[in-house]
Amino acid sequence: MSKLALDRILQSQGFGTRKWCNELIADGEVSIAGNVITDTRAAFETAGLQFTLYGELWTYREHVYIALNKPGNIECSRKASHHPGVHTLLPEQFTRRDVQPVGRLDHDTTGLLLLSDDGAFIHQQSSPKRHIPKIYVATTHDEITPALVAQLLHGVKLHDEPAPLAAVTCRMLDAHQLEIVLEQGKYHQVKRMLAAAGNHCVALNRAAIGKLQLNGTGLAEGEWCYLSEEQLALLVPS
Ligand code: URA
Repeated sequence: MSKLALDRILQSQGFGTRKWCNELIADGEVSIAGNVITDTRAAFETAGLQFTLYGELWTYREHVYIALNKPGNIECSRKASHHPGVHTLLPEQFTRRDVQPVGRLDHDTTGLLLLSDDGAFIHQQSSPKRHIPKIYVATTHDEITPALVAQLLHGVKLHDEPAPLAAVTCRMLDAHQLEIVLEQGKYHQVKRMLAAAGNHCVALNRAAIGKLQLNGTGLAEGEWCYLSEEQLALLVPS
């Protein structure tokens, strides 16, 4: 149980500086359980707290855990330079809360991207030691052959990588589509592995992370959602 003053609550949720949050409260923009609260120092139990700001209902969250169905032409990097950044798809207060992608997808890769402001979660999810499988569907320029699949399973040598990298599993979906499962997250890994095996990736989609499947989230391209406890549990390796 922890009580926090309302201005600090709003600030922690990314609604602005403490001074700005004080003004919002004093202006009567915040209500709790139907009562407008104008005392900036009024303290509330944060667990399960719901508040209304500018008429919109919010639930207090110590941290946020988000799934986004990333469209193409969106950059994951914080200082996006050539395409809009991933933050343009999310409410502004998430940027103020320092919500960041868990790992990166290339600007032209679509599919499941996790984001959070919980440093420990980001670290755990990104750690190669955790062996969390990432499932990709790659569309290739040339026809997929059994030899290509075998090569990806056996391991291919990439420039700058000391040892060959192999897919955990790899299966042909059709003549130009491959499902490839990786446990590492090296730069352009799927595209570089396909190139090293003599083909070319023309489109890439991340379909799942661990047991969390993008199509199970119901998200359309560009949409995001908070992850439930059940969905977070699907990210933990069994
Ligand atoms: N592999 C790639 O080549 N690109 C991505 O965005 C993710 C994995």
